Amino acid sequence: MPVSTCRAWGKTEPDAGPLPCRRTVHDKEVPGGPRRCRAARNPCRRNLADKPIFAGTGDVIGPFAVDHAALVALAATLGLAARPGRALRLMTEGPAALDLKGVRIVPGLLDPTAQAALLKELRALVAAAPLVTHSTPRGKPLSVRMTAAGRFGWVSDRKGYRYADRHPSGREWPPIPQPLLDLWALLVPGARAPECCLVNFYGEGARMGLHQDRDEADLTQPVVSLSLGDDGLFRVGGTVRGGPTRSCWLRSGDAAVLEGPARLAFHGVDRIRFGSSTLLRDGGRINLTLRVVT
Ligand code: SIN
Ligand code: FE2
Repeated sequence: MPVSTCRAWGKTEPDAGPLPCRRTVHDKEVPGGPRRCRAARNPCRRNLADKPIFAGTGDVIGPFAVDHAALVALAATLGLAARPGRALRLMTEGPAALDLKGVRIVPGLLDPTAQAALLKELRALVAAAPLVTHSTPRGKPLSVRMTAAGRFGWVSDRKGYRYADRHPSGREWPPIPQPLLDLWALLVPGARAPECCLVNFYGEGARMGLHQDRDEADLTQPVVSLSLGDDGLFRVGGTVRGGPTRSCWLRSGDAAVLEGPARLAFHGVDRIRFGSSTLLRDGGRINLTLRVVT
């Protein structure tokens, strides 16, 4: 089996097509032959220390299927209406989806302008529904602070993990920001409307252990995740605990979709690279997950 010769990823691995490195110079592929990183003489060392596995046999890497109507709506609600051509080009030509054990990763879905616009909406959201430190049913505090928007929010305490129709303060959750509804329509056009947008905030040292998202009633509906701020090392396994896993760094503006057989994949965030992004002045990572709850 041919092996990758792309030193940019710090490893060799079975050939599975082009790697979606954000630096397009890395994206070249020799048809039918081994992947050859054109940057081999001057490789990108971004991930070298962490050696994440990016792709392997059976992974499918291809262009992201774009729904143009949803894209135009998204560009408009993100305040990019003045530059729709740029937004369209960014989203149609820029991102390529990576299949990470069935989880669809869409790198660079939102450009920095769109990320900043979304962040502004999130600041209003967090003002209405402040971040909370939940505990496991055994009383251990989670390192990730959380809030939510939509009809339901996800909460956890001595009573267990569950969806609740109120913030722990007793107030209703704020509505899901329109750009996120547009993103959902763009990424999973056939799905029911999302009923919860869970907002996770990872400060320095925060992580999330491997888990399945299975508190929702209809597990045929996808979960869409969007990352903002610092890089997070996202790990995906199979649908049973303990099997092999693969990881990739999710960066600001990247999306991930848990759907089909991977809807129940174990997943988690091993760690973040605190301070790796300038989006949040004081550092940290925000992950938004849109879910259908009922
Ligand atoms: C989650 O599983 O709820 C969050 C995943 C992430 O932070 O990327
Ligand atoms: Fe999850």
